Amino acid sequence: MTNGKLGRVTRAVYPGSFDPPTNGHLDVIERAARCFGELLVAIVVNPQKRAPMFSLGERETVLKACVSKLHNVRVEHFTGLLADYVRAARADVIVKGLRVVSDFESEMSAALMNRSLSEVDTLFLMSDQRYSFVSSSLVKEVFFLGGDVAALVPEPVLRLMTEKRTSLQRR
Ligand code: PNS
Repeated sequence: MTNGKLGRVTRAVYPGSFDPPTNGHLDVIERAARCFGELLVAIVVNPQKRAPMFSLGERETVLKACVSKLHNVRVEHFTGLLADYVRAARADVIVKGLRVVSDFESEMSAALMNRSLSEVDTLFLMSDQRYSFVSSSLVKEVFFLGGDVAALVPEPVLRLMTEKRTSLQRR
């Protein structure tokens, strides 16, 4: 494992649902990959979440395609507590993106909870202003109502979303 820009901190975990991954996620991944020696993009497997658009396998495949040129980034998945995954992965830090002030409230409690469970801190990257309004749920809603989201998601994601919509329309 190599050192990133931040010196001692070498392995970071970027967790999320990624249903679907957006350009906002990709921007955080690219910037975090420059800061840390190694970045694990960790997809949460949440059995309680009903009807995700992308299966876990699809999310893993598109995320891997999106990060294929980033040699210090790995895509993984986990079930259960993020704190347990982070400890098992021997990560130094959790990294998250902050889009708007309203994100701060829930992220602060999550960061404190995760630190109390795992002693691992969360570092935040401010979202690029181009993506501060972009969320997976909004992208899905707009896309399935016929809106253009081409500027908001990576190309492999748009392709898979289009396939999904076409197969739904055929039913
Ligand atoms: O992309 P999301 O849905 O905003 O990501 C949320 C995520 C995956 C970071 C959060 O739901 C999570 O950490 N889930 C794992 C279960 C857990 O540890 N819950 C307590 C969090 S303090």
